[in-house]
Amino acid sequence: MSENKYVFAMNDLPYEYNALEPYIDTDTMKYHHDKHLNTYITNLNKALEPYPQIQAMDLEQILKQPLALPNVGSVAIMRNAGGVYNHNFFFNILRAGREENAAVGNLSFRIEKQFGNFEKFKNLFTEEALKVFGSGYLWLAMDSKCILSIVPTTNQETPLSMGFQPIITIDLWEHAYYLKNQNRRNEYIDAWWHVVNWDIANRNYAACM
Ligand SMILES: [Fe+2]
Repeated sequence: MSENKYVFAMNDLPYEYNALEPYIDTDTMKYHHDKHLNTYITNLNKALEPYPQIQAMDLEQILKQPLALPNVGSVAIMRNAGGVYNHNFFFNILRAGREENAAVGNLSFRIEKQFGNFEKFKNLFTEEALKVFGSGYLWLAMDSKCILSIVPTTNQETPLSMGFQPIITIDLWEHAYYLKNQNRRNEYIDAWWHVVNWDIANRNYAACM
């Protein structure tokens, strides 16, 4: 049983449920990880049951090759595979909050080159996150030439299916913030900036080199 291959299983968070306080609260993290992610894992395993040839693929392969999927099962497989991938990615890109938090390393240089400086990037990303309509995610992702893009996805679509490799993401489904922030998505986005793990983001970017 693994995070990345059939039979898919839950992994513990890489930190305690309360580690992101006061920015993201303990109850939200418990429900989000233990209930929402668990449902996607259960449904993905169920959707893959009839397809041994797809069971042999890892999560990224499934999401990058939607054409390899069976016609009948593809919607359920893609939806739930996306739900598993996106949530694992989101939880892994967070860490205990800090008051000052900004990009580091080569990723920091690349952000400055493309967006002017970190503050400009942060403002643009925040604007785009506020614009995401309904349920979805916003990503900082890169193409095969290491060029950065701010990429919105709806529901549980992933940037992988669009040819991008993700660097960071914010989950903008209401379940990610409603318990603490209710309808104040702006408050949640401001809090999220404090808990982004820029060391892991920089490692994700390094995969491009
Ligand atoms: Fe979520």
